[in-house]
Amino acid sequence: MKPPYRIAPSILSADFARLGEEVRNVIAAGADWIHFDVMDNHYVPNLTFGPMVCQALKPHAKTAAGVAVPIDVHLMIQPVDALAASFAEAGADLISFHPDASGHVHRSIQAIKGQGVKAGLVFNPAQPLEVLDWVIDDLDLILIMSVNPGFGGQGFIDSALRKVEAVRRRIDASGKDIRLEVDGGIKTDNIARVAAAGADTFVAGSAIFGKPDYAAVIQAMRSALAA
Ligand code: DX5
Ligand code: ZN
Repeated sequence: MKPPYRIAPSILSADFARLGEEVRNVIAAGADWIHFDVMDNHYVPNLTFGPMVCQALKPHAKTAAGVAVPIDVHLMIQPVDALAASFAEAGADLISFHPDASGHVHRSIQAIKGQGVKAGLVFNPAQPLEVLDWVIDDLDLILIMSVNPGFGGQGFIDSALRKVEAVRRRIDASGKDIRLEVDGGIKTDNIARVAAAGADTFVAGSAIFGKPDYAAVIQAMRSALAA
């Protein structure tokens, strides 16, 4: 059985000059999580923001009624552990990293969970899933990249659908409560296919922040998921 759907707008495509306001606006528009893309110009050829920005945004990550909205930190950095610890202190609710960026994947997962934060593993389009044989029971989230990491606004890579199906089988076999998130190229016209493959959580950057009416896009995504 799959848990309810979550939509996680990526602030990578927000207006960086008005980040707090963008976070509040996209939450008012119906965002379930805030997806926070951390890039280091080493693991990926781009550079974004660090723990101090996460900490500054934390007070903005709540609904008008004051309900906290999870900050979903996607680390595209190498090495992983020191900054993961800083993000836990900065208020991250989930921290995901790429297994090929950590020398000791099991240790990195335990370190994140040891700080009371949910832990996720992220798989690039050409990255195999075998590491899940050994660590799936320790994970709260599995994130499948449907673009190569580093930039917003790229086209969806179709082989990600087969990978999502394979991960859904692994999660169901594990019997654990693990979110299956997909990141890259998600739009209102392909989100239903991604859900049909087994995903329950959807990152969308340019699709939401590239349009003037965030609520209309999020609503269209929910309608596509419900259809
Ligand atoms: C890419 C990032 C994504 C990015 C997705 O490396 O991990 O989260 O913001 O952007 P869109 O939705 O525009 O493909
Ligand atoms: Zn991301």
